[in-house]
Amino acid sequence: MDPLRCFLFVPADSERKYQKASGTAADALILDLEDSVNQDNLPQARQMAHDYLLQSRDKLRPQSLWVRINPLDTDLSLVDLAAVMGGSPDGIILPKTFSAAEAIKLDHMLSALEARENIQVGRTKILVVATETARSLFTMDSFVGASDRIYGMTWGAEDLSAALGAFTNQMADGGYEDVYRLARSLCLAACKAAETEPVDSVYPNFRDLDGLFKEALQGRKTGFTGKVAIHPDQVDVINKAFAPTEDEIAFAHRVIGAFKDKGGSGTVGMDGKMLDMPHLKQARTVLTMAERNNA
Ligand code: COA
Ligand code: MG
Repeated sequence: MDPLRCFLFVPADSERKYQKASGTAADALILDLEDSVNQDNLPQARQMAHDYLLQSRDKLRPQSLWVRINPLDTDLSLVDLAAVMGGSPDGIILPKTFSAAEAIKLDHMLSALEARENIQVGRTKILVVATETARSLFTMDSFVGASDRIYGMTWGAEDLSAALGAFTNQMADGGYEDVYRLARSLCLAACKAAETEPVDSVYPNFRDLDGLFKEALQGRKTGFTGKVAIHPDQVDVINKAFAPTEDEIAFAHRVIGAFKDKGGSGTVGMDGKMLDMPHLKQARTVLTMAERNNA
């Protein structure tokens, strides 16, 4: 599966937002049953998410459709799953984990529900929100080899700050405090260790599109393969940030050309600098991303 660049959150109890979201260029929508939905609206939100999914079940979907369920240590999550699986979501977003144990438990729950709904067992993927509890920062390594369903992991600063008893997660200059930068870095490293996709977190100030672009670009250059959006205006900005620039593509072609010219040599010189295998790998990644954006 190609990495998804932009996941757009859609509160699952808003018909208007479903419509709006389906007209965006987001690769994936997250129908949210957790923090953006008032508990009183949850039964209705589950039904609406199910119905939205069902319209495109067994069809080639233009957008990948995911559902964020409530955390597994609540009695809401199983009801969330039972309500939506009939629509065959492409994936489930699992929030507030402590370790891979919840992802493994979810894997088993999904297998049972897939069998019930005549869905190929193993089809439904999992995206873990891996940094929302204090303990999660010490267990991220547990995701290596945990489940074939794990598409990737993302991180979150809002719930982590609540878990840490903090009043803010930002420093005076607007940047994140150390512990949230650590959470982001751990998420990235754990994803690479587990051979899954690292998805960068939300940029909450949805009117500041320049700030979003800078953060998204920095995320891509750090190794993230996608980012979560909370507002339709953020989608095109994220897609642009996750597409390699003309200069990057031209440079990648030159790197690959330089290795070809040297006929299989493991290291070459270009513009007075040494290039070896990691540079070749980066160049190939850039071209793969460019091809995907043109597809
Ligand atoms: N998905 C789909 N449509 C959305 C949307 C979203 N996430 N956010 C806003 N829209 C729609 C609005 O309904 C509005 O549609 P309309 O023109 O048909 O009325 C349009 O986009 C413009 O919205 P705007 O007025 O700029 O913002 P808002 O004040 O209505 O909404 C938020 C602001 C933050 C409440 C809204 O963006 C939102 O709900 N985001 C998702 C929040 C979420 O899921 N959080 C959980 C994860 S952190
Ligand atoms: Mg939350």
